[in-house]
Amino acid sequence: MTVELLEGKTAIITGAGSGMGKAAAKLFAAQGANVVIADLNKDAADQTAEEIDQVGQVLVVQTDVGDDQSVQNLVGEALTKFDHADVLINCAGVPQFFTPIEEMSISEWDKIMSVNTKSIFLTTRHLVPYMKRKQQGSIINIASIAGIRARPGLNAYCASKGAAIMLTKALALELAPYKIRVNAINPGPAETPMLGKFLPGDEQKVEEDKNKIFLDSVPLGTLIQPEDIAQAALYLASDLAKAVTGEIMNVDGGRGV
Ligand SMILES: NC(=O)c1ccc[n+]([C@@H]2O[C@H](COP(=O)([O-])OP(=O)(O)OC[C@H]3O[C@@H](n4cnc5c(N)ncnc54)[C@H](O)[C@@H]3O)[C@@H](O)[C@H]2O)c1
Repeated sequence: MTVELLEGKTAIITGAGSGMGKAAAKLFAAQGANVVIADLNKDAADQTAEEIDQVGQVLVVQTDVGDDQSVQNLVGEALTKFDHADVLINCAGVPQFFTPIEEMSISEWDKIMSVNTKSIFLTTRHLVPYMKRKQQGSIINIASIAGIRARPGLNAYCASKGAAIMLTKALALELAPYKIRVNAINPGPAETPMLGKFLPGDEQKVEEDKNKIFLDSVPLGTLIQPEDIAQAALYLASDLAKAVTGEIMNVDGGRGV
């Protein structure tokens, strides 16, 4: 007998058009969940939906996670379609080019903070009233090992992820009386379209630097796969983790040690 860990649950996953969010959407659907695919990139979100077999189990909502109206619409559409929402994965994110602090533009700083950090505030504020009424919920924030271990030139990115980690802890305590669990995952350098976007230079230089800067910093000697993050999220979303809240789980090949 196969057990589906998320049978009957509905998960809203931001950034599910690519990388880790996409891997989570596919795994969660395979584990019995209804999945709401929220991404700014509608074509990418539709592509994820197409790759998930289950009929009637998927909803795509084009969403800008940094925009309050857009997030309100996402939560409204999810609840209208599936009548409940048990899991929220805040996975949408943007990278930062290695940039000296004095060259960092204010608009780029604001964008990174908005997509990587403010988004967690926005999705949570719209979904939590519903979760409180149900007295249950699991919120999983995809932060980064860069939120606890800095790299030079990633000033805004590191700050945005450090804030995401602390927000996770604050919300875990605030929402525990309502049986809403809030946890974070810190991926290490991961093999997704994002990784190359931290680095300047042409394709060949980016490939070389990816190995020099990122791969060499992982004690286990391999880049993290999107599926590694999806599996950690599956654990945190499921009842297997019913006693786990406020946890910041490094899935990083030892980079954070
Ligand atoms: N790749 C890595 O090495 C790495 C390491 C640590 C943490 N992370 C974090 O993991 C998460 C997932 O990253 P990934 O590597 O899968 O990246 P990715 O670039 O493959 O996917 C990110 C997705 O977020 C979407 N997105 C961007 N801005 C958005 C917005 N305003 N509204 C809605 N969607 C938006 C993109 O369209 C894309 O589909 C991010 O939060 C990232 O910061 C990544």
